[in-house]
Amino acid sequence: MAQHSPAKCFLEFFAGIGLVHEALKSSGWECVYANDIDPKKEAMYKGQFGESPYFHLEDVWQTDRIISEISGEPFLATASFPCTDLSLAGHWQGFEGSQSSTYFGFIKALQALGRRRPKLVMLENVPGFLTSKGGADFAAAVTTLAAEGYWLDCVVVDAKWFVPQSRPRVFVIGVHETVDSGRVIRQGSGVRGLDDPWRAAIEVGGALRPPVLRRLMERTELATGWATLGPRAPKQAKYSLSAVIDTDSDQEWWDETATAKHYGMLSDLHRREVEHRRTAGGLHVGTVYRRCRNDVMRAEVRFDNLAGCLRTPRGGSARQIVMVIHEGEVRFRWMSPREYARLQGAPRFKLAPNTVQSLFGFGDGVCVPVIRWLDQNILTPVFDECVRSGSTARSTGRTKKISA
Ligand SMILES: C[S@@+](CC[C@H](N)C(=O)[O-])C[C@H]1O[C@@H](n2cnc3c(N)ncnc32)[C@H](O)[C@@H]1O
Repeated sequence: MAQHSPAKCFLEFFAGIGLVHEALKSSGWECVYANDIDPKKEAMYKGQFGESPYFHLEDVWQTDRIISEISGEPFLATASFPCTDLSLAGHWQGFEGSQSSTYFGFIKALQALGRRRPKLVMLENVPGFLTSKGGADFAAAVTTLAAEGYWLDCVVVDAKWFVPQSRPRVFVIGVHETVDSGRVIRQGSGVRGLDDPWRAAIEVGGALRPPVLRRLMERTELATGWATLGPRAPKQAKYSLSAVIDTDSDQEWWDETATAKHYGMLSDLHRREVEHRRTAGGLHVGTVYRRCRNDVMRAEVRFDNLAGCLRTPRGGSARQIVMVIHEGEVRFRWMSPREYARLQGAPRFKLAPNTVQSLFGFGDGVCVPVIRWLDQNILTPVFDECVRSGSTARSTGRTKKISA
């Protein structure tokens, strides 16, 4: 079979505002096809990347139309499929819900690409992906992807390793069986009787694979198998929440009434914490979530140098609030779209003219440095090796049969 040098091109399914693109462009990936169903996301995407003729406002289930718009053999496909049904917000419907089950629309598109199927696939979703229906939804997702010829790895990466935001996310990476890379450590590839090198590599990954994930990987048999490039968990970056949150008086700080109302919503424990910091003097930056506890709306503040996970502002309670205590004075305000962008590691990303639209865009998105880390440690190394070896046209013939 003829050898050829692949192009560093990718497909961005469920593109949203394009934070995956934002991350990948820095290492030379070129987006050749992107889709999303939401015109507001499309507007933000195009605000950032220009006219983007490769972006299609398209339902992922429109397989024929999608395939007709993809030319050549893109090397990578990314799919941040909707998380709604994999969380409380979607009543834990899992793949029975119409949103998260769009994942199978993505699979249909992969199938229709046939031999042009990308060599790498990267899925992204919330931690609920691991627990939905007791792990059955995760198993359904990975076995379906593996059946298309992908060896799989899975990691949980928390944005807090890079930026001051707590945002653990699940990533499944698929390496197609036609990629004959010595760097990909396959399950069961060791010498009989000796330790499995795959298992050893998984150990090295430490915090990348929490026990719930390890258990799922152990018990889910794939038509291919599990495989890894064996990255170690990222080093914790040094940062300060106060460098991301604006503390000057030009911000839209709330008036006395709104401030008193939210102060009154603090629990005794949280109020004591605020009072302690007021009397200590200096500058203290925290973030606040409003949460309903036992039918009472509470404001919960954290001063651990992290913002809580950004979410889409469906219902007022999901929007983050900033609390700044400066020399004893307590001030509150809504977190701004620019601060959302910074917390997603995209400080200069173009904002939408409308605040809510920006918050939806960033709240739904990926954290850019997380994707860059995955790219540097997994995606680009596989791509580079394929370019060096010209190996992408060969089948490794390693797909195994599993009993029904
Ligand atoms: C988790 S968000 C993706 C965010 C994106 N990775 C980013 O960083 O901006 C999921 C996206 O799927 C889109 N979506 C939902 N249903 C869809 C469908 N049937 N076809 C295509 N896109 C869909 C939503 O509009 C949303 O933008």
